Amino acid sequence: MQIAEKDFTLVIFGASGSLAKLKIFPAIYQLALEGRLQQVNYKIVGYARSAMSEADFRKVFADAVTEASEMVDEKVLESVLEHVSYFQGEYENEQDYTKLANYLVELEAGKKDVARIVYFSVPPAVFPAIIKNIGAKLDNESNPVRLILEKPFGYDLSSAKELREHLKLYNEEQLYLLDHYLGKEAVFNVLSLRYANSILTTLIKGKHIANIQITGFEPVGIEQRAGYFDHVGIFRDMIQSHLLQILAFLTMSLPMEINAETLMREKRHVFEDIKVVDPERFVVRGQYTAGVVDNEKVPGYLEEEGVAQDSQTETFAAVRLMIDNLRWHNVPIYLRSGKRVGQKWTAIVIEFKKHSLHQGEDDELDTNKLLIQLQPMEKIEFTLFTKVGGTDIAFREMTTGRPIYCSGDCLHEHGRLLLEVIRGNRLLFLSFEEVFAAWKVVDPIIEAFRTNKTPLYKYQAGTWGPKEADKLPREDGFEWNDFF
Ligand code: BG6
Repeated sequence: MQIAEKDFTLVIFGASGSLAKLKIFPAIYQLALEGRLQQVNYKIVGYARSAMSEADFRKVFADAVTEASEMVDEKVLESVLEHVSYFQGEYENEQDYTKLANYLVELEAGKKDVARIVYFSVPPAVFPAIIKNIGAKLDNESNPVRLILEKPFGYDLSSAKELREHLKLYNEEQLYLLDHYLGKEAVFNVLSLRYANSILTTLIKGKHIANIQITGFEPVGIEQRAGYFDHVGIFRDMIQSHLLQILAFLTMSLPMEINAETLMREKRHVFEDIKVVDPERFVVRGQYTAGVVDNEKVPGYLEEEGVAQDSQTETFAAVRLMIDNLRWHNVPIYLRSGKRVGQKWTAIVIEFKKHSLHQGEDDELDTNKLLIQLQPMEKIEFTLFTKVGGTDIAFREMTTGRPIYCSGDCLHEHGRLLLEVIRGNRLLFLSFEEVFAAWKVVDPIIEAFRTNKTPLYKYQAGTWGPKEADKLPREDGFEWNDFF
């Protein structure tokens, strides 16, 4: 079992915000619950602008943990709270950072080798101020601070570059660009499955594959996040980040040795090899109207609180891509994601080419498919065909598969990723180079959205997105493979 091995201080900027409450506090509790923080001395400092006593902040922390957990071990929670404190400060005020630096020295009892970690749980607008002030006050060569920033990294290529420019005070090794999908066992398992199974290593090559489909569907809407979501849309929110990362794990060349550098490099190569997409032809976008999800009536996107009444933001998008390299030449890849669709389903479906003996017009055999389902339940399934039996030469579909759940050193995604930062391991994080390469793919598409060159279709909440999305695979002679 992996544990924290070095004393650390975690400063959470935006400690009264929703990311901290929903993900970060429960993750710290989970690490403590599993005994992963036992060997070290650690401090958690919540930094925010509002005035709050330490006791009040500990209550916010405890409430968030209780809210997120089915059952709370009060003793463990109590022990975590002893490590938690609050620091009130402005994000722009340099003097507040001087005070913070002094406060940390005091907390750490002057120890020099405590790993200092800063979590950005604030809106991107305040990133530059925090980045600059931490650089000046908390960072030093002998004990470099580690910065955790969550996706989206910028809003497009140029803002991502601006962000990198602000961060130039730091070495790349100090930056932990977090996409929480990489903390999901199931996502990393896409890569592990390819390493561990020669049958998959052999089969997952363009020459055997007719098409690949990657779906990230969710029944939830925008959950009081209109301010964020209406500005970014689903293409940036899900496809630019999570789905492209899954695609990279599935299609990248397998390096001889897996480490942060080789993984980041190979993922970047995949993004660099994606051909420029014609957004008018190969992208479909949609926006939900009122409907029923999970037996409940839900409002349309335009009726959601905080959304502009004439908003053109997409809540569904599908795209057809091609990776222009020898391995994936001419294999269409379809990615799609939608909010307020019928159910949660995150999955990869690989459809294999038909055997040359089975390409006749009257051949009724369907194609072999491999499903790697990541959510809601992890499983892998092969669709094969077997003879019905008897004298007729007829076949029936046979699905063979099983659930693949984590049975070892399992952690939820934010806990897993936080532990990696504490351990100083960047394997499950992104590099700016790959982020830039991903934005290069996405920029022309979101520009076509901005100028309304890609029409915005409506779909009813609770359905599977606009029917116009069917045309993407259909034009290539395929259908969506919906295994839900
Ligand atoms: C986040 C997006 O990154 O991922 C959300 O901002 C989305 O809009 C969420 O709902 C989905 O994550 P998960 O882990 O629930 O699949």
